[in-house]
Amino acid sequence: MLLEAKGIFKRFDGVEVLRDAWIEANEGQVVGLIGPNGAGKSTLLAVLSKFLEPEGGTIFFSGKEITDHKPHEIALQQMVRTFQVPREFGRLTVIENLLVAPKDQLGEGVFSAWVRWRRVQEQERRLAEQADDIIRFLTLEPVRNLQARNLSGGQKKLLELGRALMLNPRLLLLDEPFSGVNPVMIDQIMEKLFALRERGVSLVVVEHNMYTIKTLSDVVFVMVDGRILTHGEPAKVFQDPRVLEAYLGRDEGPPAQH
Ligand SMILES: Nc1ncnc2c1ncn2[C@@H]1O[C@H](COP(=O)(O)OP(=O)(O)OP(=O)(O)O)[C@@H](O)[C@H]1O
Ligand SMILES: [Mg+2]
Repeated sequence: MLLEAKGIFKRFDGVEVLRDAWIEANEGQVVGLIGPNGAGKSTLLAVLSKFLEPEGGTIFFSGKEITDHKPHEIALQQMVRTFQVPREFGRLTVIENLLVAPKDQLGEGVFSAWVRWRRVQEQERRLAEQADDIIRFLTLEPVRNLQARNLSGGQKKLLELGRALMLNPRLLLLDEPFSGVNPVMIDQIMEKLFALRERGVSLVVVEHNMYTIKTLSDVVFVMVDGRILTHGEPAKVFQDPRVLEAYLGRDEGPPAQH
């Protein structure tokens, strides 16, 4: 098992948002995480990447307990998250956004130590090559030198993915990579995610777009009110009456209608 998180509790101002939540991902798998608005999906990703401290639970990554690790230590171990709202620097160009991503994600101090350790020049050359590889991989060449604030919603999502790829992830935690993205771009982003899986990258994907979840996922976890209601193969999970019921009376329709 690549990722194994169990018994996760998280409170905000005394309100329990995650209650005995759990998730796991095998090496090479795409794991979908769905659930109504406010279920706790983003909070779980934030806890897994240690941007938030849980009140209880254990997290194992690649056989090693990481529950007490800091976010940069987790990123260095190659579990990398993206954000529901992309965090690009609007005034920097696409290539510049990629080049600053490791510094941004590891923190200035850790980044400097990392670079010193690997020798500055060699590291800079390697990062520049890697950024150009990622731009090619994500077909962002036409906008390489544009300021990120001028990108479309879908291109911003690709850039957010690219910034995570700068950390050479073994496991990517993606928070709504398809939200606000037009249908053509959705298929393009899905292709990229399939290609990453081919390269051996494992994925946890939080999404409301059920077409993408059904197409991509090997396993789907359903979160409702901070708990995992059920999990399993997409076809099975989407027919589960409890899953349909969990979506009733919410703003979104049940999964089958997406
Ligand atoms: N920083 C915070 N402080 C207080 N409450 C928060 C905070 N972040 C999230 N919450 C609350 O925790 C609950 C879970 O939020 P979370 O963002 O994890 O849900 P989600 O499943 O990602 O929803 P969505 O599908 O809308 O993104 C919600 O009730 C939310 O209002
Ligand atoms: Mg969310």
